[in-house]
Amino acid sequence: MPAVIGTAPGKIILAGEHAVVYGRHAIAVPVSKVQAKASVYPRPDLKPGVIRITAPNIQIDCNLSELSEEHPISKVFSLTKEYLNLNHFPAMSLQIRSSIPIAAGMGSGAAVSIAILKALFTFLGKPFSPEEMSCLSFEIEKIYHGNPSGIDNTVIAHNRPIFYKRNEPFQLLRVGSPLTFVIADCGVKSTTRDMVEYVRHHWSESPSKYEALFDQMDWLAAQAKNAIESEKPDNLGNLLIQNHQLLQQIGVSCPELDHLVNTALQHGAEGAKLCGAGGGGNIIALVNQSAAQLLAQTLQHSGAVSTIITTIQQND
Ligand code: MEV
Repeated sequence: MPAVIGTAPGKIILAGEHAVVYGRHAIAVPVSKVQAKASVYPRPDLKPGVIRITAPNIQIDCNLSELSEEHPISKVFSLTKEYLNLNHFPAMSLQIRSSIPIAAGMGSGAAVSIAILKALFTFLGKPFSPEEMSCLSFEIEKIYHGNPSGIDNTVIAHNRPIFYKRNEPFQLLRVGSPLTFVIADCGVKSTTRDMVEYVRHHWSESPSKYEALFDQMDWLAAQAKNAIESEKPDNLGNLLIQNHQLLQQIGVSCPELDHLVNTALQHGAEGAKLCGAGGGGNIIALVNQSAAQLLAQTLQHSGAVSTIITTIQQND
């Protein structure tokens, strides 16, 4: 039997990160230029239940039983076992590879979980829906970062642009005209868990200040939705800039991210903002498609360690 493969894209957040944890709206889109890929194949040479794991990106090469129970990969298996009511797994090898930057705000944790879940369900001959993948990976997201809003697992499992509010059915976002973004990594690593905790700490010290900032982000996300749905999203750039300013005010930007945002704006981007949890990771810059390559090079000369150009296609 050949290997069965599960894949999942990365993601970027166009508006509303952090505020979405506090019940406000946010917009996220998948980025399929970067992918997590899980390959599962049978190992009749091993005892039933033995599972070999290799994940070169995170230096894992061991049996599943050697990982802690709380490890996200162990959790994928234990949740699947419970969900499918299995006694044990057939012997297998699982290989995980991902081109999604880790700890950079592009949803690598959720994408890896979903890629493994898809490969595992397929290997076991069990049909699955995107919603099931989203719900199961949400359980694993809780281990990665404590109090996730659910936006990462939702956008990655459904692989469509979404307008999202916690605990409500998400809305698929209509994209009225193609939008090109340069994604640029500032090179500073930062975990979502730490940044979400950082915001929680400051919110608990100044709740009214933070609630007011989150309300402004909610309004911006609604305006950004209208802009994205329109055929002429002229004010989207400006909304991204305002969103970045609010993220600065909640304390999740850093000099490296601000530098890349400013560089992008000085070199023709219509708008730019940090993207994801902040404290490091990526910025996104909205740019005319014909100018994207040049802007990516400029950002690399100004300190970005890598860049990705992605176009969100019109979908109506
Ligand atoms: C992470 O991609 C986005 C955050 O808003 C956290 C979350 O929504 O769970 C920072």
